[in-house]
Amino acid sequence: MIIPPRAVIIASGLLVMVLTGLRLTRAGRPYPVLVLALHKLLSLGVLVLLIHTAMQVHRMAPLSRSEMVTTAVTTFLSLGLAASGGLLSGRAQAPRALKVGHHVAGYLSVIATGVALYLLLAGI
Ligand code: HEM
Repeated sequence: MIIPPRAVIIASGLLVMVLTGLRLTRAGRPYPVLVLALHKLLSLGVLVLLIHTAMQVHRMAPLSRSEMVTTAVTTFLSLGLAASGGLLSGRAQAPRALKVGHHVAGYLSVIATGVALYLLLAGI
């Protein structure tokens, strides 16, 4: 199987996103500005690349139900992570449940992105 360069870029982005997330958790508030900026930018970049990939694949052949569902689940999780991440990094101390939610959804999103990417790229 040939691994497209885009899959390598997204996988590296996911890895750095988890590493920066762990670093943020360990550092605590006030969060290191550069690490937080990288974490935010990567979360946006990976989502944009995944949606772009889904659109490209869809242009060649209509997406299957599983491709559509996994891409939608990943997008939904990423939007929730952006909202919870924004609240976590905001001025006020966020409730513990929000932190736990961001951590759990963060790992779920990484897995969902991997599955979506695999399904999208396996067929081409
Ligand atoms: C797809 C998007 C995202 C993913 C997959 C993700 C993933 C993660 C992960 C895995 C952690 C570490 C959890 C742990 O320690 O076990 C984390 C922590 C964190 N993330 Fe994200 N994140 C995303 C988006 C964002 C965004 C957009 C922001 C800010 C606007 C953000 C802010 C934070 C902060 C502040 C922490 C540290 C929380 C703490 O103190 O425990 N994240 N994230």
